[in-house]
Amino acid sequence: MRIITCDTYEELSKKAAKIVASQITLKPDSVLGLATGSTPVGMYSALAKLCKRGELDFSEVKTFNLDEYYPISKANKQSYDYFMRKNLFSKINIKNENVHIPNGETTDPKKECEDYEKQIKASGGIDLQVLGIGQNGHIGFNEPDASLNSYTHLANLSENTISANSRFFDTPSEVPKQAMTMGISTILNAKKIILLASGANKRRVVSELINGGINTSIPATMLKTHPDVTLICDKDAYIGAKLGIDIGGTNIKVAVIDSDKVVYKCHFKTGATEEKILSSLIEKIKSINASFNITTVGIGTPGIIKNGKVTSANLPFSDTPLQSIIAKETGLCTTVDNDANCAALGEVVFGNTKDCENIVLVTLGTGIGGGIIMHRQILHSNNNMGEIGHFVIQAENGRPCKCGQHGCWEQYCSMTAFIKDAKQLALENPDSILFGMIKNDKLSGKDIFKAIDCGCEVAQKVFDRYVRYLALGINSLVNIFGPDAVVLAGGVTEQGDKLLNPLKRLIKNDIRIEISDLQNDAGALGAAML
Ligand code: GLP
Repeated sequence: MRIITCDTYEELSKKAAKIVASQITLKPDSVLGLATGSTPVGMYSALAKLCKRGELDFSEVKTFNLDEYYPISKANKQSYDYFMRKNLFSKINIKNENVHIPNGETTDPKKECEDYEKQIKASGGIDLQVLGIGQNGHIGFNEPDASLNSYTHLANLSENTISANSRFFDTPSEVPKQAMTMGISTILNAKKIILLASGANKRRVVSELINGGINTSIPATMLKTHPDVTLICDKDAYIGAKLGIDIGGTNIKVAVIDSDKVVYKCHFKTGATEEKILSSLIEKIKSINASFNITTVGIGTPGIIKNGKVTSANLPFSDTPLQSIIAKETGLCTTVDNDANCAALGEVVFGNTKDCENIVLVTLGTGIGGGIIMHRQILHSNNNMGEIGHFVIQAENGRPCKCGQHGCWEQYCSMTAFIKDAKQLALENPDSILFGMIKNDKLSGKDIFKAIDCGCEVAQKVFDRYVRYLALGINSLVNIFGPDAVVLAGGVTEQGDKLLNPLKRLIKNDIRIEISDLQNDAGALGAAML
């Protein structure tokens, strides 16, 4: 099934009309299968315009409508006969004898259905079938059922359909309880099918159609057995809520985004084993999906991800097929990426650099992490990339790093390194204010800044050196990636201008340096946008 997504209903109508028009242009005596409902109205109006301008000729075209209420008189404004004449046939040059709609006035609906099926066959079969979709997944009036009728038949309408279609009638009791409809096989016999879906009330069924299997409880899923089906939907029908998950060593953060707004946030403890993490994720996703109608799940996790499998030093994941497990257990389209990549994506979509095309995110924490966004997409390779904490900034006598190299940037600019350096210098200067800040052999980042505020030269010296190293790394990143902005996150960035002002003086080319306004939320938000 091909999927065409459109921003608006108008765009959907134009695209659908273009497909129908091309069909008629290429085969002027095409047999069209037509649908009613509010969705194809815009397409019919676009086709009528083309015909009026002389750009489309319906004189040889034959049409067969999908369905008609039973019983109903043709004069009834709610009959599909009336609908088709009003919205299309009265506006185009189609011959009356080429128009076919099941006759809702017949006294013998069974024979009417059999004859209708024969007429379709005699016409050579349907070249292009246009379909809408009911909120319960019906096509034509083929309602969800344990087994589906194959050919044109008299169908009982479900309560759901009667209620959905009652909007066209004065009272729900006026909606006919039955209809004649092409069967699933009649529809599948068409050479080509386009299915139109518009509006938020179609979201759930479109998501089930895209993500789910083939099931008679959603009749439209039968279309997945046809080789040439195009689903054309507008943004409202296609984009449901997005679920983003950021798996951290201590907590798992969750964010739900609907229509570009964060509608729900929560966090829970990260389990100690692979099994516990997976079962808690599945349970959470299922319960959130029940309330928010999720279409996609994005997961950020530390570690290396290859083909959806995760291996992480910080989590009990070793070649864990996270993506396929979550997709299988929840039935939702799932994507997995590195957590720092997700955070960078979160920054460029929701953060204070959302006006940028290209950014580099640098997280200054226990280590240094980062993600690179180019043209608003995560920069990926087939190998582990974006490990910006591990480029070497001190070639000679560089500090040893757990990655096996010496002189890695994170050995100088992580919070761990900053505090370690400060403590060492404080111990070398026992008369300094900074030394007095050490309590129980411990010093915090905040203590260093407190000491600076009290005029401590030792603390100032450590900080100046830290900023020089930070600028060294950032300047290299700027040289390599040429971003519009570099975003900094992590505990030290709480200092705001105290960090930014001296840093900016050392950064080349006036490149924009921002402190993340999302901080720890960026990962889950970005994961949702994967
Ligand atoms: C009716 C028609 C269907 C149509 C459905 C959706 O039930 N029998 O063919 O797809 O309505 O209508 P709408 O496009 O108004 O949502």
